[in-house]
Amino acid sequence: MSLPLRFSRRLAWGAQENQLARAEANRRASGLSDGLPFFDLTLSNPTQAGLPYPAEAIAHALADPGAAVYHPSPRGLLPARTAVAADYARRGATVDADNILLTASSSESYALLFKLLGNPGQSVLVPEPSYPLFDYLACLEGLVPRPYRLAFDGRWHIDFGSLDFTDAAAVVVVSPNNPTGSYLGADDCDRLSALTADHGLAIIADEVFADFPLAPAADAVTALAGRLGPALTFSLGGLSKASGLPQMKLGWIAASGPGELVSPALANLELVADTYLSASTPVQLALPKLLAIGDGIRQAIHARIRRNRQVLVDHLGPDSPCTLLPTEAGWSCILRVPEIMSDEDWALRLVRDEGVLVQPGYFFDLHMGATLVLSLLTPPDIFDHGIATILTVTSPP
Ligand SMILES: Cc1ncc(COP(=O)(O)O)c(C=O)c1O
Repeated sequence: MSLPLRFSRRLAWGAQENQLARAEANRRASGLSDGLPFFDLTLSNPTQAGLPYPAEAIAHALADPGAAVYHPSPRGLLPARTAVAADYARRGATVDADNILLTASSSESYALLFKLLGNPGQSVLVPEPSYPLFDYLACLEGLVPRPYRLAFDGRWHIDFGSLDFTDAAAVVVVSPNNPTGSYLGADDCDRLSALTADHGLAIIADEVFADFPLAPAADAVTALAGRLGPALTFSLGGLSKASGLPQMKLGWIAASGPGELVSPALANLELVADTYLSASTPVQLALPKLLAIGDGIRQAIHARIRRNRQVLVDHLGPDSPCTLLPTEAGWSCILRVPEIMSDEDWALRLVRDEGVLVQPGYFFDLHMGATLVLSLLTPPDIFDHGIATILTVTSPP
């Protein structure tokens, strides 16, 4: 008899379906059978948000005949890296094209950096609350995610007491963070950079939402890329969010910090990237045009998130039992709802009874009463109905 097939411990988190996913599936199914409406306020795919996409210009950008020839380039083709450097300049950040490496996505950027920096079993310090993806990305590289807390006192900041550098491989910061929408403040950034450098570690700064400011604090660090601090810092960006083009599969890593750290780090990162060479030639050749096209898409996304947030603010009168947390940037917002039940129970009730799908705060390790995370990308008619329903359901009779 043969032994049962075993899978890697990297997948130890399993794939159990949670209660909310089951309730969502049931409600969607009854939508098909009984015509019950469904309002998805969790949308994160901009290409399915009813925004105008210049399909012909995108197709034209991808039609460069140069793509018939393959020039393998571990860091990415120079014209493409130069276009990314110019895009950083648009945001006021100075990054040399030589310090940029192209990848297939921000998720892949994490994977390459975790390979570069970590040994199996080491920890990666990840913020909490934040997007749960980092836990999976770390586990898949044989690393252990170790949370450090972001505290909220009207504004989010790092709880430095919760940072444990023991046997750590790297420190992840997400600025603006998802879903809190918070930028790293200048003091937190400087302190973290000093501490990280003291421990001989690097910062991985996820800045994929940096192009979507709503109300940044005066001291918000709007770009860690190109910022001179003592720690080696890898900033992540990509077409997925900045240009609303996730299907292009093109991300980048910009290295900054002391020159004596940046050069060997890039040389080693290049070795890792050379093993995969995953950014495709057509998309690299198209990158300067795609970034230009992305300007218009970004503006449309920006208008959508501003509009939806304003609608929510307007609906939340002074007597509302719900409060909206401040959002400096990004595609999400956090609504505090009455604590008469847990955020999971609110989310279940909304989807089962009303067909309104939201994410409960605990998905993101938000532990501050009952919170719901709403996507500001949601098409306006769906968003407005969802908001009206949430506010009616949460109001006392
Ligand atoms: C904060 C953050 N970083 C990275 C990603 C992944 O981005 P990409 O599509 O470039 O892999 C996401 C996806 O939503 C995200 O929220």
